[in-house]
Amino acid sequence: MSVHIAAEKGQIAKTVLQPGDPLRAKYIADHFLTDAKLVSQTRNVLYYTGLYKGKEISVGASGMGIPSIGIYSYELFTQYEVDTIIRIGTCGAYTSDLKLFDLLNVENSASESTYAKFAWGIEGDLIAHQGNVFNVITETAQKLGKEILKTNIHTSDIFYRNDQNLPDVATKYNCTAVEMEAFALFANAQHLGKNAATILTVSDIIPTGEQISANEREKALKTMIELALETGLNL
Ligand code: HPA
Repeated sequence: MSVHIAAEKGQIAKTVLQPGDPLRAKYIADHFLTDAKLVSQTRNVLYYTGLYKGKEISVGASGMGIPSIGIYSYELFTQYEVDTIIRIGTCGAYTSDLKLFDLLNVENSASESTYAKFAWGIEGDLIAHQGNVFNVITETAQKLGKEILKTNIHTSDIFYRNDQNLPDVATKYNCTAVEMEAFALFANAQHLGKNAATILTVSDIIPTGEQISANEREKALKTMIELALETGLNL
């Protein structure tokens, strides 16, 4: 048991898929895993461990935003001996060069957040994916014939804002899209010497206001879930 996760030691696999939404974790466990067992439901943040094509994997939520993923990923890495976390989430595209449903493999996360500095003394506003999992995602996507774009993204603390211009840090690092978690996941993994990647599906095109509709969401996320699970087999 850790402060925010009720699983016993040994009940969480070496690789964890981490969507933001607890019900997405349940959806993955119900539809993609066999022998899935609910191992934590503290605060309704659900964690399951099961088998994908015979290999043990866990799936559990990060919640929304840097503070939340900062807590869950830290406890998974330090209390449950997790080696690799693959965040699977959605993002808003800053450019209409991206299309709805596009898949992104995050190379670097840029952020105004002070999380990395005040938690671990990591200076700077850009943190890379950690370890080899990013490459395994690229190779696995190739094998499966799924297109995935390597890109920098902006991890923002803000969803609603007055100023609709592109934030400076996003311009500085050519960020094509925005989400709210990768920076803290990468910072924790860098500090702890663990592996972390983030796969995103474009759910909004910010300049045009286009969005994936609620009933298209499941189909959109299926491609990303399958890619993350297949990546897990190759780690
Ligand atoms: N902003 C931040 N996070 C997001 C967005 C967005 O527009 N869309 C999906 N995740």
